[in-house]
Amino acid sequence: MTAASTADLCARPLARVSGSDLQVPLVQGGNRTYVNFDCAASAPALRQVTERIETLLPLYSSVHRGAGYASRVSTDCYEKARTSVAGFVGASEDQVVVFTRNTTDSLNLLAGCVPCSTVILDIEHHANLLPWNNSRVVRAADTLSETIRRLVAELCSKPTALLAVTGASNVTGEVLPIAALAEVAHRCGARILVDAAQLAPHRRINLAASGVDYLAFSGHKLYAPFGAGVLVGRRDWLDAADPYLAGGGAAGNVTVDSVQWAPAPARHEGGTPNVLGAAALAAACDALSELDFGRVAEHEAALTARILEGLGSVDGLQFLRLWPDVPDTVGIVTFTIDGFEPGEVAVYLSAEHGIGVRDGRFCAHPLLERLGRPDGAVRVSLGLGSCSEDVDRLVDAVRTLVNGNRTWIYAKEGAQWNPVPETRFSSDALV
Ligand code: ALA
Repeated sequence: MTAASTADLCARPLARVSGSDLQVPLVQGGNRTYVNFDCAASAPALRQVTERIETLLPLYSSVHRGAGYASRVSTDCYEKARTSVAGFVGASEDQVVVFTRNTTDSLNLLAGCVPCSTVILDIEHHANLLPWNNSRVVRAADTLSETIRRLVAELCSKPTALLAVTGASNVTGEVLPIAALAEVAHRCGARILVDAAQLAPHRRINLAASGVDYLAFSGHKLYAPFGAGVLVGRRDWLDAADPYLAGGGAAGNVTVDSVQWAPAPARHEGGTPNVLGAAALAAACDALSELDFGRVAEHEAALTARILEGLGSVDGLQFLRLWPDVPDTVGIVTFTIDGFEPGEVAVYLSAEHGIGVRDGRFCAHPLLERLGRPDGAVRVSLGLGSCSEDVDRLVDAVRTLVNGNRTWIYAKEGAQWNPVPETRFSSDALV
């Protein structure tokens, strides 16, 4: 591909998202259009999501129990949202869609359903590290191929119910080969759960074709920030387990002495569900199902290459990667710069340039420790609304910092870096 065609690929955003023309104040005065490079934490709403919510809000009412017209529409919308999610991830007939709050919630739910032990890697986000009871942690090797060999050895060494693994790292963006890992798990008599929080917004997933048994992801990372997530997976463990939340909606007939629990998904959705969140998530799934994910990958690859090229020659800057033998990464670039704390870099980018990134340990403390960055790093994460102009602003800003040309003073108060003085906020800015 020529330099010109690569530049064309990322010159424009791939989709319209909320906040794309947001003006933010700068400490030195004036405003700039916000660059949102924090999509891995929470992605802005897709236009189709906002439109679906606006259409549904006047019709919003109780689900499952009301006879009113609005209740019937809301119920229909909530139940049909499962079909959109199932279609988006290529679920097979025996897989059910359970609505949750987010990926963490989904994994805690599944952890209560696993019949015996779970195998995990030490590179996981806390959501896929902390919920598992009875887990065995495999230490990742210096290559992915050796890591998979270690997984096979551990999976086959003792009875294992589940391999729980990320689809893409929230720190390095590296994409794991989920079909190959599913084959490995099944060969050793285990099932596989993929934490797709960082994968689903970036790559096409097909559960039936890849053999993945359980998948979890969050609406707020999939351009649907309305408080819903999902667990999609095989019915038998879900139906055999105790309800995740005991209460109305999860039960069939109830007496003071007994209860008949409903089968999944209702069994694990006790209480009034988040109808608007599920509808938003379904709208995002519908919109993303229409997208050419090959084009999404090319767009991200072009932007990522531009960041790596632009920042690669900055003195003292190091990128974080785990495995040299992983060919594919989603749009995440994480780095440190000698002589600057991650929080200092992040607050400078925001204060003087209107660029939002995340710094810290990204809820993946063991991974940051392993990467030799126990004090954290700076993460730039792209989305469908990103374009080359955003990258160029980032690269210029980082170069300005490293060349000693920042214009403001920054100080650490407790654990947090702040501009001194902070000139951007007033108490009524948010109302
Ligand atoms: N898990 C989110 C992140 O990686 C919050 O930033």
